[in-house]
Amino acid sequence: MMEKTPGSVTMEKIVSLSQRRGFIFPSSEIYGGLSSCWDYGPLGVELKRNVKQAWWRDIVQGRDDMVGLDASILMHPQTWAASGHLEQFADPLVECKQCHQRWRSDEVADNSCPSCGGELTEPHLFNLMFKTFMGPVEEDANVVYLRPETAQGIFVNFQNVLTTTRKRLPFGIAQVGKAFRNEITTGNFIFRSREFEQMEIEYFVRPETADKWFDYWLEERRKWYLNLGIRKENLRLRPHRDEELAHYAKKCYDIDYNFPMGWAELEGIANRGDYDLAQHAKHSGKEMTYFDEESGEHIVPYIIEPSAGVDRSVLAILCDAYDEEIAQGELRVVLHLHPTLAPYKVAVLPLSKKENLGKFAREVYDDLRQCWMVHYDDTQSIGRRYRRQDEVGTPYGVTIDFQSLEDNQITIRERDSMNQIRVPIATLKETLAAKLAGQDLFVLPEGGQIWKEEGT
Ligand code: GAP
Repeated sequence: MMEKTPGSVTMEKIVSLSQRRGFIFPSSEIYGGLSSCWDYGPLGVELKRNVKQAWWRDIVQGRDDMVGLDASILMHPQTWAASGHLEQFADPLVECKQCHQRWRSDEVADNSCPSCGGELTEPHLFNLMFKTFMGPVEEDANVVYLRPETAQGIFVNFQNVLTTTRKRLPFGIAQVGKAFRNEITTGNFIFRSREFEQMEIEYFVRPETADKWFDYWLEERRKWYLNLGIRKENLRLRPHRDEELAHYAKKCYDIDYNFPMGWAELEGIANRGDYDLAQHAKHSGKEMTYFDEESGEHIVPYIIEPSAGVDRSVLAILCDAYDEEIAQGELRVVLHLHPTLAPYKVAVLPLSKKENLGKFAREVYDDLRQCWMVHYDDTQSIGRRYRRQDEVGTPYGVTIDFQSLEDNQITIRERDSMNQIRVPIATLKETLAAKLAGQDLFVLPEGGQIWKEEGT
């Protein structure tokens, strides 16, 4: 019934699907778009929220060694002097003397412009932080920066969190939020943009245990992606070479994903040592230590930092889930999204728009959407409607026909296998809940039947 076609995932297909179905649009598109900025549409916003929610559920809600934080984007400018970003968060920039395009010098192989072949200038360092002014006067004293990482909001709140939660080492602070980088070169859709979201953990540990916790988080975070359905063969761990290490890092590994353009960083796991707390103590004059009641000592904890990108996760999830198959002689594009991530969990599809059927279907829809994001669609043939839902990754369709009005049974159709079962309406919610939680689709409730989707 279903056979695979050779059509593999490409960035063009992901960009096209994203725009066509309302996952992701270019920012301010009616004005020609703004380079490297993107807007999440009705389906994209659900997918992105589900990614962040899954992270929060697993990192904060499910653990008692972790608490959350939501710090402001604008921070005291001294933060960036202390963190080293003012001095060191810079890329070497070269400019073509002929066409004036700018490049990161480490991205050009020889001294000629990748675009026109022209000669390039000598590299100079370009700071990646966006600068703006606080208040109405645009002068140096009022300069503030849009944060280039969410991490610093966590470090400056270390004592606040410690005293209010009375956490003991090891413990972590987790945060999800926007970060901004004036990247010299952007591209590959949402992979590298100038405004993006991070999901960061700063995990505070005794210095002598840092290696152990580093290994722990590397494995924990790799498993997190696998549990959300990312294929094992598309993930790899890559240690940073010494010359690649960020100015604050003692050690760093990337979790790379095999994107259509090749292997690239999805998440970085760093051992930041005591760099950040020591720097903020020095610049603020405030204590940034932890009092160990057992030994009676003040210590500066080391920090293990798993730092993930929301947008890169969304891109990896879309690429990984994308599939093309021949089903009933036609091309079927399907997103095999994990139910936790799918924008809509269920689509309610009445076979006809006739009044009594519509009313019945609406009641089912209203009931189900108390629990989940549910989509209602009563236009075009049922086959087209199934394909539309497959393409956006909706795991289950609920079909209501005239027979349903008589026997109070409805059909559940599964996205991946295209199998269908007929169940009593009274068991619909519990059946869907079990299936969405990953339980076997074909444990039939009493009175249920099962069959295979036929030509539509
Ligand atoms: N606090 C550590 C830190 O910011 P990073 O490796 O520079 O480390 C962490 O960034 C993650 O943020 C990356 O793994 C990536 O997922 C995401 N990220 C960084 N720059 C990005 C950009 N320009 N566009 C989209 N995501 C980005």
